[in-house]
Amino acid sequence: PPSLKGRDCLALSDYTPGEVESLLALALEGKEKLKKGEAWHPLSGKTLAMIFDKPSTRTRVSFEAGMAQLGGHPLALNRQELQLGRGESTADTAQILSGFVDAILIRTHWHSDVKELASYASIPVINGLTDLHHPCQALADLLTLKETKGKLAGLKLAYVGDGNNVLHSLLEAGALTGMHVAAAFPPGYEPDESIVQQAELIAQKTGGMVTWTHDPAEAVAGADAVYTDVWASMGQEEEKEKRMKDFVGYQVDPIMMAKAKSDALFLHCLPAYRGLEVAAEVIDGPQSAVFRQAENRLHAQKALLVMLLGD
Ligand code: CP
Ligand code: NVA
Repeated sequence: PPSLKGRDCLALSDYTPGEVESLLALALEGKEKLKKGEAWHPLSGKTLAMIFDKPSTRTRVSFEAGMAQLGGHPLALNRQELQLGRGESTADTAQILSGFVDAILIRTHWHSDVKELASYASIPVINGLTDLHHPCQALADLLTLKETKGKLAGLKLAYVGDGNNVLHSLLEAGALTGMHVAAAFPPGYEPDESIVQQAELIAQKTGGMVTWTHDPAEAVAGADAVYTDVWASMGQEEEKEKRMKDFVGYQVDPIMMAKAKSDALFLHCLPAYRGLEVAAEVIDGPQSAVFRQAENRLHAQKALLVMLLGD
């Protein structure tokens, strides 16, 4: 099978459309194996160090369980319990960890820190969320859509909300798989321009498309899936009040969902705030796939770990 051996996963655009397709195929295979109770231990003897600078439920637990299921060993750490918290440099930490473990997962604030870690590490570095990207989430989202719709190319994925890390990775994921990603965000909450341009360039080659609007109804019209995320990301807690005002009209409620296709999925990376970015009737309703989407973090990331670390 195609391998990504020794590579990093900092952003989804690190990979080609073919590599993403292989990852999804392996994820589906691994999911099948787990459901059948078949053993799959390709990472026996390998260790993944995970550094968390921000809280996490899904990323932490799915990587930890996934590594264990693959026969490997996960090691969850946070900055405060490492010498990093006392000022040891990222560069030194990268080189030290490279001597002990086989890969590093990191969740931190600045994408540039992850790039620096990756440049000094001699082992794969996986981005578990930064201010700019959340590639592992987008892989699970692709898996969820592929499982449900049977294919990705040609689907319309609407994203309604903040132009944040989750949207950035979805733009790249959609472009790589030939989808139309239609984003709606309020003025002042635009996604990063260079990431949008990058996604547009990829989409030109795959037949995908990237569009944006300040009108959520336009983005969700005829969509196969409607996606939203929190209005205030981790680290933006003090902007919460202002954002609640600026995002009026951006809640995914039943009226908004009704503008998408009748079999459209509702997706959210979670954690979710019912009554803010999404109405309870939608996230707890029949079109919501959020728990399967979260479960798919496990399967998508196991495939990623096997392709980065497996022999
Ligand atoms: N979606 C996601 O990354 O969840 P956690 O913050 O719980 O890891
Ligand atoms: N945009 C959110 C995603 C959480 C998984 C954040 O960065 O906090």
